[in-house]
Amino acid sequence: MSDASRINAHDAERLMRAAREATRHAYVPYSNFPVGAALLTENGDVITGANVENVSYGLTCCAERTACFTAAATGHRAFVAVAVTATKVQTVTPCGACRQVLNEFKPKAGDMIVILDGTEPLTQMPLADLLPRAFVPRDLDEAAGR
Ligand code: THU
Repeated sequence: MSDASRINAHDAERLMRAAREATRHAYVPYSNFPVGAALLTENGDVITGANVENVSYGLTCCAERTACFTAAATGHRAFVAVAVTATKVQTVTPCGACRQVLNEFKPKAGDMIVILDGTEPLTQMPLADLLPRAFVPRDLDEAAGR
């Protein structure tokens, strides 16, 4: 099946494998809850991230944001899909903060596809389903009279 709200099952599985692999690098001494994320960039690169915690708990960076910031800091600006997994539960969905950060890097055409672990085939959904009515650059343009 192929439509705008999914990527093909093979690519989704490949991305999820990268996310699962990324959990190995999670730094989680406080929660013991490893999470991995893998982004598929517009040009086909796969960039991964894991959660990195801090003794000052609020400074923790989720796996999805680690992946986003790694990708953005190496020049990537548009992600076709993101796969997210956690080792201790079947399915994890991106937290609210990560949804907003992911929303920053949607591809020009279509939505970013979020791929969740724990089902066969893997669950896929457009980011807009997880973050309806997102705060977007247009909102700032309006304030600036643009
Ligand atoms: N966590 C993520 O990395 N991504 C999510 O989508 C949910 C939560 C992390 C943050 C923290 O290190 C641990 O999971 C427990 O909240």
